Amino acid sequence: MATGSNPLQDRVAIVTGASSGIGRAIALHLASIGAKLVLNYSSNKLQADLVAKSVETRRRRADYIDIIISRGFAEAGKRYICGIEAAIDTMVKILAKELKGTGITANCVSPGPIATDMFFAGRTKEMVQKAIDECPLRRLGQSEDVVPLVGFLATDASEWVNGQVIRVNGGYV
Ligand SMILES: NC(=O)c1ccc[n+]([C@@H]2O[C@H](COP(=O)([O-])OP(=O)(O)OC[C@H]3O[C@@H](n4cnc5c(N)ncnc54)[C@H](OP(=O)(O)O)[C@@H]3O)[C@@H](O)[C@H]2O)c1
Repeated sequence: MATGSNPLQDRVAIVTGASSGIGRAIALHLASIGAKLVLNYSSNKLQADLVAKSVETRRRRADYIDIIISRGFAEAGKRYICGIEAAIDTMVKILAKELKGTGITANCVSPGPIATDMFFAGRTKEMVQKAIDECPLRRLGQSEDVVPLVGFLATDASEWVNGQVIRVNGGYV
């Protein structure tokens, strides 16, 4: 039964991209508030197994899914990202409307720069510093900065939040 500290008790969540970065942090957080997890990854079985081990109490079959946390879209040029953001904004609204009557909500969490392998890949020290300088909080985000919101959206308390793109970026624009 769901309680204050375990609001996702007996809920099953699929987390894609759960072997590293933001997805891994989300998986660990959802498990810590009671969810049972189905973990997805691309190729890094070793890391995925480590995540599975740290959240696993026992293996069981998931006959139903309550929560889907899906990784976003690949990084690309800034203009392309703007186009994608507009498309995601529309998609989330349409999805929320399409789900009318089901009791299922659809939202998108949009992080700013988060210090993960993907963020650092191909960026020079100067590029990283620029991202830090542009953020009002003068730091990069950490995966753990994103997870409380995702955790909240997965609980019943978020029911009235629907069809939204929510930015979690420390004020970075
Ligand atoms: N970090 C940022 O600054 C930032 C900002 C905004 C949005 N995002 C978005 O957030 C998501 C996660 O980013 P991250 O920084 O946490 O990256 P990350 O640390 O590199 O982790 C990426 C995860 O996605 C998995 N993955 C890669 N390709 C996949 C595929 N085709 N199907 C399923 N899983 C796949 C990887 O699995 P393997 O380990 O098996 O390869 C890994 O678990 C990405 O969509 C990214 O674009 C990131």
